[in-house]
Amino acid sequence: MSENGTIIDYGERGEVRVLPDAEGLARDAADLFAHVAIEAVTLRGRMSVALSGGTTPRRMGELLAQPPDRDRVPWNRIDVFWGDERWVPLESPESNAGTAKRTFLDAVPIQDDHVHPFPTDGADPAAAAAAYAATLRKLLGEGEHTPRFDLVLLGIGDDGHTASLFPETAALAERDALAVANHVPKLATTRLTLTVPVLAAGREVVFVVGGAAKAEALAAVLEGPETPERLPAQLIRPVDGRLLWLVDRDAAARLAAPPSRDG
Ligand code: 6PG
Repeated sequence: MSENGTIIDYGERGEVRVLPDAEGLARDAADLFAHVAIEAVTLRGRMSVALSGGTTPRRMGELLAQPPDRDRVPWNRIDVFWGDERWVPLESPESNAGTAKRTFLDAVPIQDDHVHPFPTDGADPAAAAAAYAATLRKLLGEGEHTPRFDLVLLGIGDDGHTASLFPETAALAERDALAVANHVPKLATTRLTLTVPVLAAGREVVFVVGGAAKAEALAAVLEGPETPERLPAQLIRPVDGRLLWLVDRDAAARLAAPPSRDG
């Protein structure tokens, strides 16, 4: 295993880079974040990223908030968004944006007006999702085309969901709105989520998946039959961007495909 891990090529389902453990996964994700940010700012003068929620990105965030990343990332040229959000206040420990701010964004030199949480302080999730979609259009432009993030970071659940695109939920079919409120019966709650078109429009779409609990879902998503209603992560196929999976060895344990090369 090289220090960058083993590469497994899954064609249109993406390229998988297997890292030895959770720390190696977080380090590789932080390196990728910094690399994409520096390249985007060099080429286009700015960088936009949609962060995933959940627990996996936390260690990556801690690494980004300390040298060398804190000092090499062009934070003043970055706009941070989220791929999804729970319908809770920013102060809630359940808040994806609140957690990211407390984990690393408050510790790096990024302007507050470049950090764009979903507006969860209102009364209506649908209106919040529509407002967020308008913010994406305003800040990421592209005219009538789908706004493109330079980097979309995603996780998967053990049920194959990604962002808040949960199996058998209405948001899976949305192809017009950029963001919607999505009722998730299994959680008895409504989530806010970006939709498939905007997640798939990313220049770099990167799933970060760690831990043995994800091994079965990861193998199903990458090697199983195409059943996107049941495995929504299969819906995320970049239009003309790169699809990369950063996974640790525990999450990769059920993958049958042989390594293509060392990374
Ligand atoms: C969320 C996420 C969700 C997450 C996966 C993995 O709001 O929870 O956006 O899609 O990425 O559920 O979560 P963990 O990283 O906690 O396993």
